[in-house]
Amino acid sequence: GPVFSVKMLHKQFVVLSSFDAIYEALVKKGKSFSGRPNKNCFRVDEVTDHFRNILRSQATDPLWKKLRMIAHKKIKMYDTGMERIERISKDMIENLLKEFQSKSQRSFNPKICIYNTVMNTILCLLLGRTFSTNEEIFKKMVQFEQGGATVMAHAGRGVELDLCPWLRFFGNKTYEFICHLLEVRNQLWELIKVEASLGDQMLKEDEEDVRLVSALRDALKENGSELSEKHLRAHVMVDISFAGTATTSNTLHMYLNIISKHPRVQEKLQAEVDRVVGLQRMVSLSDKGEMPYTQATILELLRFTSVVPMGVPHMPYEDTVIQGKTVPAGSAVLMNMYHLHHDEDFWDDPFDFLPERFLDADGELVSASHPNRRHLMPFGAGPRVCLGEVLAKTRLFFVIASLAQMF
Ligand code: HEM
Repeated sequence: GPVFSVKMLHKQFVVLSSFDAIYEALVKKGKSFSGRPNKNCFRVDEVTDHFRNILRSQATDPLWKKLRMIAHKKIKMYDTGMERIERISKDMIENLLKEFQSKSQRSFNPKICIYNTVMNTILCLLLGRTFSTNEEIFKKMVQFEQGGATVMAHAGRGVELDLCPWLRFFGNKTYEFICHLLEVRNQLWELIKVEASLGDQMLKEDEEDVRLVSALRDALKENGSELSEKHLRAHVMVDISFAGTATTSNTLHMYLNIISKHPRVQEKLQAEVDRVVGLQRMVSLSDKGEMPYTQATILELLRFTSVVPMGVPHMPYEDTVIQGKTVPAGSAVLMNMYHLHHDEDFWDDPFDFLPERFLDADGELVSASHPNRRHLMPFGAGPRVCLGEVLAKTRLFFVIASLAQMF
């Protein structure tokens, strides 16, 4: 049914799987549903410095709002097509394309070069420049992000620690790994602070400082601010690096797999980019509005892949009725996004990759109020909607359109 509950490893989970149930919880009753369940989460507790980051803090905590506001403002600046940022993004895409071209038609696994490119967009947002893969900051960021992914997954490494945290006193291997990861995090944070000061010196007198790290440092200095360095560290490491890298790079990796089996979609993407951009210049953000087929492909990719299949768990602050059933305050609630995006009662041929489902009869993108767009929620919805939605969609646009142009 659309609302049911399951017990797993002593935890009670409520699962919402229909559009009506998910929309009611995230949007109509979004305020009540904007908590995060933090019981029995020892591993996440350790990695997030006791839930000090956006992703895991409570919506009732004023610092959640404050961090969200700072990051949102910077991501927006980063994404409005500012000349400098767009140039950096283009350089990055150019390097990715060169790497693909250098394989001269031999088959290869693009996973690492896609991951590195996405990680660099994140570092650029944070520190204002990109890094080569053998620079210490880059290496440590990758180490932390990949280690974090293995120990923070619901059913990932060391799940026994969530239930019995005392196991850490008995030589638990995952706990040793978490301690090592926290050392990497501390070293990385020191490197980031040094890099931020170096960046200050490179800034020209009349140049706007677009770095997220600068906005965070300013917030720390504000009078009466309750933000601490630990909040900023947890935010950078988990909200920006962890939440922003694997999601986008996995989506792109799957895109290449999907597109290799859909030559017809490739042809249409190519025809559109040839018509709008041509071969003489690189794709620009301002082209997006004239490229409905590319935009529809991105929406279909987000639906088809649903890279965060069960969303991020929510928690109601009070007993709340969803579709006639009471969800008790404090329970862990999962949104079955994969089902929402593949529900055979709503989507025609949900397991086929069809960008056309997001286009009207004239080939234009359907409006945001169209049922197909409303049923698409890869980034969640309501007060806790993904912070990086616009950034992720823009990066997907750049890479997908540029690949269609070059190959
Ligand atoms: C394809 C790419 C991405 C997908 C599919 C995705 C998906 C999601 C989802 C489903 C949520 C949970 C929303 C909820 O709780 O209801 C979320 C939250 C979040 N995402 Fe993303 N995300 C992506 C990229 C990014 C990027 C690039 C960033 C940062 C630069 C980011 C930062 C965050 C943060 C900080 C939250 C927590 C928001 C909060 O709890 O208030 N995400 N994302």
